[in-house]
Amino acid sequence: MHVTHLSLTDFRSYARAEVPLGPGTTTIVGRNGQGKTNLVEALGYAATLGSHRVATDAPLVRTGAERAVVRAAVDRAGRSTLVELEIVPGRANRARVNRAPVARPRDVLGSLRTVLFAPEDLALVKGEPDGRRRYLDEVLVALAPRLAGVRADYERVLRQRNTLLRTARAQRVAPAALEVWDEHLAAAGAQLLFSRLHLVRRVAPHVAAAYAAVSGHGDAAGEEPGADAAGSPARLGYRCSVPEVDDLDVVGAGEVPELPGRAELAEALLRALAAQRRAEVERGTSLVGPHRDDLVLTLDGLPARGYASHGESWSFALALRLGSYALLRGAPVGGPAGAGDPASGPSPEDEPVLVLDDVFAELDAGRRRRLAALVAGAEQVLITAAVDDDVPAGLEGDRLRVADGEVARDG
Ligand SMILES: Nc1ncnc2c1ncn2[C@@H]1O[C@H](COP(=O)(O)OP(=O)(O)OP(=O)(O)O)[C@@H](O)[C@H]1O
Ligand SMILES: [Mg+2]
Repeated sequence: MHVTHLSLTDFRSYARAEVPLGPGTTTIVGRNGQGKTNLVEALGYAATLGSHRVATDAPLVRTGAERAVVRAAVDRAGRSTLVELEIVPGRANRARVNRAPVARPRDVLGSLRTVLFAPEDLALVKGEPDGRRRYLDEVLVALAPRLAGVRADYERVLRQRNTLLRTARAQRVAPAALEVWDEHLAAAGAQLLFSRLHLVRRVAPHVAAAYAAVSGHGDAAGEEPGADAAGSPARLGYRCSVPEVDDLDVVGAGEVPELPGRAELAEALLRALAAQRRAEVERGTSLVGPHRDDLVLTLDGLPARGYASHGESWSFALALRLGSYALLRGAPVGGPAGAGDPASGPSPEDEPVLVLDDVFAELDAGRRRRLAALVAGAEQVLITAAVDDDVPAGLEGDRLRVADGEVARDG
């Protein structure tokens, strides 16, 4: 799919912006602070209902305005869809698809798919586990939008259970109602955990291949992602807070660990909750479940966090995004229900829009060249850069200039 038009009203620094876009590569160039990232952030918001930079909506609305509107016209194999979102801080968003209001904003998920890499993604490698969990869950929702509901259920159950545990801590006794919430947590948690374990297994070879391709490991020129996964130094693992669920450590297709089923996971979660009962009441919070897990990144067997160089960390963060892009490219929208069921064949019309915000400035010449080769075949890729020279020759495509809140086509 590709976006043919992006329209903003009172979003970030833009009072108004009308941005026509075409398939292939578009480079967005402008000096620091001119509004390049604001544009791609809006696009990401239309796809995910969230910003990659902030957790709340208030900063997205132009100072002094009450609401922001983002409109994206999406072409999917010749069929056009108009996604419209009205962002009003402190209130639920309003959403329309093809001018018809949808019941819940999350019903727009799947109309537009994006994979966005931004400098903030360095935190995927160097930061706390919550960013990596968010990465996994975002890919899950992009693969199967209904999983947004599973995740929302889990978060709701977790909040209510934690409220109960806080009261229990004050009274120093576990209330009987906790058992009901154990069941709820185990049920929703098992769904999420099941999907994540399968996702890690599916995305790991793509991430490993992308890392090898970008960093130039082996002879990987990047033409055939997937082929060089096995020789890649980059591996993914999943560290689970449920002791019975073995930590997952995967890379190539050769290593396919047997994964537990949903019912098995729910049982294991229940046992883990029972074992932690006293500690949970003492601490007043839930200590087991997917909210305590981590995606483990290693390079040559060493944890990337704490060992990898700045450039290696950057490449790994990029590989996580490119790996998810490669996976999503081959998976149909709303397709694999658990994201673990076998995907049907690739459907090019579902190919996500790839967005690379400020990626080239941090890469050495070889990595720039190899990345350019990797993304050249994308249906649509949007690249931002502060300096023209940062974008490798041959990749510029269409060029937009951003200055003083105006977006103009170059030439
Ligand atoms: N809610 C808002 N209302 C008005 N202006 C805003 C708002 N949020 C951000 N801005 C302004 O938008 C500008 C930043 O835009 P953006 O992050 O898109 O820059 P950029 O072109 O990507 O720059 P860089 O090259 O440094 O990454 C800043 O000047 C900031 O003050
Ligand atoms: Mg920027």
